[in-house]
Amino acid sequence: IKKIGVLTSGGDSPGMNAAIRSVVRTCAYHNIECIGIYRGYQGMIEGDFKEMGPRSVNNIVNKGGTILKSARSLDFKTTEGRKKAHQNLVNAGIDALVVIGGDGTFTGAEIFNNEFGYPVMGIPGTIDNDIYGTSHTLGYDTALNTVVECIDKIRDTASSHNRLFFVEVMGRDAGHIALNAGIGAGAEEILIPEEDLGLERLLESLQKSKASGKSSSIVVVSEGDKIGKNVFELKEYVEEHMPEYDVRVSVLGHMQRGGSPSCFDRVLASRLGVKAVESILEGKSNFMVGLYQDKVTLTPLEQAIKGSSKIDKELLRVSDIMST
Ligand code: F6P
Repeated sequence: IKKIGVLTSGGDSPGMNAAIRSVVRTCAYHNIECIGIYRGYQGMIEGDFKEMGPRSVNNIVNKGGTILKSARSLDFKTTEGRKKAHQNLVNAGIDALVVIGGDGTFTGAEIFNNEFGYPVMGIPGTIDNDIYGTSHTLGYDTALNTVVECIDKIRDTASSHNRLFFVEVMGRDAGHIALNAGIGAGAEEILIPEEDLGLERLLESLQKSKASGKSSSIVVVSEGDKIGKNVFELKEYVEEHMPEYDVRVSVLGHMQRGGSPSCFDRVLASRLGVKAVESILEGKSNFMVGLYQDKVTLTPLEQAIKGSSKIDKELLRVSDIMST
């Protein structure tokens, strides 16, 4: 292996830049050339490459987003597109790839590896934390802190006006952000896709909370929850059934994906980047580097994509007790 390519793909997440920096500098440390590929797989198809050295990643460890840009490439889903991408890598003399992203990114890498026998290594980068084989994905910790900070602010105004707030958070089909940020911010109720609370229990819970003397409430709603109503419909439903509540909605949206990465995400990114490059140099391929019991480990990409959800049921119980 003489030359390694690195790209970021799918939704960006805080810590991606720190991971790029780690990959580039680990390559330099081992005297390997490193090529940055812009806009994920789309840039691979279009040959949008740039040589990177240790100085091209100065002052990015603290930056949100990704300097390599990101995209969700439709062309890479076609055999034609992947053939073009492979040819571009061969022409540029790139021997292996490090892909930073979520399950869509890993699925693309796995198909690419199966089709061309091309060495790939994945680094989990998504705020959703919905990847099996790692306790944390890059950006998740930062997103949690962002969400908690926002809900703290919402709580100030909620309590001043004796209001109930439905706060919608990201996470796609996973409830990690909602559950953990909800507990961290002291939410009265948390709706996640992994557990369908049901509308009646939601009302019961709100009634109980009112009867216990609480004058304001925060309900954190994961965007993928299964209650069957979006936050605006939930507002209407509660207003209809409990007119005593003054209800407001706040959808946090993409602010959850931005911002300077937390120290945890920066350290994680640095560790995962080193392991990704060194694993390639050891001849390994088709794995994801991740964190398991504070050790950096390898999980086959296929498992990382298809593995089961890792919601901790004990956290649900903790959340119930805390809302007493
Ligand atoms: O996967 C990260 C994520 O932010 C999800 O939480 C969310 O569902 C999705 O991406 C939003 O995608 P987009 O930025 O394309 O709207």
